[in-house]
Amino acid sequence: MPNPTIKNVAVVGTGIIGRSWIYVFSRVGCQTKVYDKDRSQLEKNITWFHETLRQDVLDGFSTPQEAEDIRSRVSGHTDLKGALSEAMYIQESVPERLEIKKAIFAEMDRLAHSSAIIASSSSGLDINEIAAGLPGMHRCILAHPYNPPYVIPAVEILPTRKASAEQTARAVDFLKSIGQVPVQMNFYAKGFLGNRIQYAIVREAIHLAESGIADVQAIDDVMCHGLGLRYALLGNFGVNNTNADGGIREYYNRFKDAYREGIGDLNCAVPSFSPDMIDRVAKGTEAMVGKASVKELCRWRDRLIRKICALKEKDPHP
Ligand SMILES: NC(=O)c1ccc[n+]([C@@H]2O[C@H](COP(=O)([O-])OP(=O)(O)OC[C@H]3O[C@@H](n4cnc5c(N)ncnc54)[C@H](O)[C@@H]3O)[C@@H](O)[C@H]2O)c1
Repeated sequence: MPNPTIKNVAVVGTGIIGRSWIYVFSRVGCQTKVYDKDRSQLEKNITWFHETLRQDVLDGFSTPQEAEDIRSRVSGHTDLKGALSEAMYIQESVPERLEIKKAIFAEMDRLAHSSAIIASSSSGLDINEIAAGLPGMHRCILAHPYNPPYVIPAVEILPTRKASAEQTARAVDFLKSIGQVPVQMNFYAKGFLGNRIQYAIVREAIHLAESGIADVQAIDDVMCHGLGLRYALLGNFGVNNTNADGGIREYYNRFKDAYREGIGDLNCAVPSFSPDMIDRVAKGTEAMVGKASVKELCRWRDRLIRKICALKEKDPHP
């Protein structure tokens, strides 16, 4: 059982993301108070949470007793003050509109315990704008999940300009302690990391379909049965590192002309693949990979991809 570094949390806004956060916190033992300004949303999404718990018992992810314990840690509130009363970590998931986020952050900053962390699930807004001018701007942080966070662990983190390293570390340590994988950004960019990568993929997939190069099924097949199998295990640089026996340096040096030409065909800015550029990303990749050799990584990749394929065969696409 994970040991959360913060025991009392609040979820503010219970749409598709907020309801999933309820599960993330309560299953690891956090007392989770939930607030939505719309009572019917609150009820609907607590019902969703109960149904998901029931389904998870049927699918063997938890026992009936575990599900009951998880359920008992959650309470619904229609007053924000009550919901925040004991919380030391607050996860906001209200609609993606700056004025709505600013208003709720101002209220939460006023009502929350002075050392509570206030995190936003925003998928595109700048936390510096959401929390601008608040007395507690230093304790506000972006913690952007991927849908649904109860099964996808990555959470993109961006502290405000006023945050201390200690404040950020508390939020990051908490998310790690509950089994999420916080991924830190250095500064704001529209779409953060994952969505920027998705923008490139969505753009090209639509282009391939619209121009008739292949149909939708073929384009998705190449991701599900090709690229995606590796990306479940290794990121872009990790994959590039395992695509040549000599690792990423050899790979980029061998294929730089093909990449320059291929990326040029996408009508967007083409990376230089200069020796300096290759050296910079190779150093980052080598630091990430650590002591594992390319041979070991490839063996691990091949072992796990075969297991994933076997799982997919046993539990095929409905
Ligand atoms: N949907 C996704 O795939 C996804 C993924 C990652 C992050 N996000 C981000 O998560 C946030 C929530 O998105 P969503 O898709 O869950 O939205 P949603 O519209 O499904 O839910 C928003 C909820 O907030 C409630 N709400 C509105 N104003 C409120 C207020 N002042 N106080 C309390 N509750 C309030 C609404 O009643 C509703 O229940 C957004 O910032 C979004 O960008 C969404």
